[in-house]
This record gives sequence, C-alpha cells and structure tokens, in this order.
Amino acid sequence: MEKVQYYTRTAQWLHLIMAVIFIAAWLIGFYSGNFLSYEVDGSFKGDVITLHKNIATTIIFLLVVRIFWRYTHPAPELPDTMSPRMKTLAHAGHLALYFMLIALPVTGCLYSWSLGYPAPVLYLFNLPALISENPAVTAIVKPLHIWLSWAVGLLLVGHIFAALKHHFIDKDHVLNSMTRQSKSSKK
Ligand code: HEM
Repeated sequence: MEKVQYYTRTAQWLHLIMAVIFIAAWLIGFYSGNFLSYEVDGSFKGDVITLHKNIATTIIFLLVVRIFWRYTHPAPELPDTMSPRMKTLAHAGHLALYFMLIALPVTGCLYSWSLGYPAPVLYLFNLPALISENPAVTAIVKPLHIWLSWAVGLLLVGHIFAALKHHFIDKDHVLNSMTRQSKSSKK
C-alpha cells in the first residue's frame, strides 16, 4: 500500500485554525492574568477575560472534529531517518499536546463555573454549567489551569522548534506534510 505523505487539506486547515485560536487564547489569558488587575484596570480586565473565554471554548468543538478526522484519515508516517527513540518522543509530544487541548478548556470552564461565571462561546451562547459556584473547586482548578497553561507554553515552543529542525536541519518532509499537498491529492 502506498505510504501517506501529506496530511489532508482539512487536517491542515484544522491544525492552522486551532493553532491560531489556541495561541491567541494563550496570549490573551497570559496578558490578563499577569498584566491586568481589577484594582487598576477595572472592567477592562473583565472584558479581556470574557474575550479569552469566548475564543478558547471553540477549541472544544474543533477538537471533536479534529479527533474524528484523525481517526478516519491516516497521518503520514515519520521519516525512517528518525531513530525509534525520536519517533517515540515525537508521538509522546503529540499526545501531550492533544491532552492539553482537552485539559486547558476543561479546567478553564471549571474555573469559571466554580466562580459562578459562565463559559461563553463566540459571544453566541454559554456552555451548560456542569457545576455550580464552589470555592473548593476553584482552589484546585485555578492553579491547575495556570500550571497547565505554562506547561503547554513550553510544549508549544518545543513543537515549533522540532518542526523547524525537521525542515532546516534534517531537511525531511515533516513540516511540508502539514503545509503542502502532493499534486494528485485533494481533500
Ligand atoms: C485554549 C485553551 C486555553 C488556554 C491556552 C488558556 C490559557 C490561559 C492562560 C495563559 C492564562 C493566564 C495564566 C496566568 O495567570 O499565568 C489563563 C487564565 C484564565 N483562563 Fe484560560 N486558557 C484556555 C481556556 C480557558 C477557558 C475555556 C476558560 C473559561 C471558559 C478560561 C478561563 C480563564 C480565566 C478565568 C483565567 C484567569 C484570567 C485572569 O485571572 O486574569 N480559559 N488561561
């Protein structure tokens, strides 16, 4: 059977859209959490957090589509020039990123609900609150959300450096498989 060389166009678009949304959500959350305070910035901080939530919750919906697509459309194999240990590391890194795509929105929503606030989506509707206001839950999910956000920041930097290393140092097809198409493929 012929080996898959490129991700489908749909997978590439999902990757790009989720990357842009995730990084935007990260930057906005980081800005609000570390540079704004209610004492100095008043309602502006509230507006920034609301923007953070409205963008970030979309990741949940996109992730469902992405996982479905991943299981129904095989991903390209990693190049044979990579050692088995590097391949295992790459797979572990991808799994960790998928985990973060679930864990960050989930802890973010629990954080908001536990404070008695909604988890809105694109300023259109609120996700149904799965818990009511609960300071004991806040005490757990608030630091968890912050720690996960720092961990995912490191993972993202590693992911980007790895992609650039494949392209410019190893000169293999890994980065191209997520950005290009073979002449005959089309989905
Ligand atoms: C794409 C997923 C998400 C990412 C990457 C993300 C990232 C972040 C980051 C980097 C921070 C700042 C942490 C710090 O203080 O150093 C933050 C804070 C926060 N996030 Fe998220 N988050 C995500 C999803 C969500 C969701 C879905 C909600 C709620 C619906 C949410 C609610 C909050 C709240 C309330 C804060 C505190 C902001 C503040 O104290 O000013 N997050 N998030």
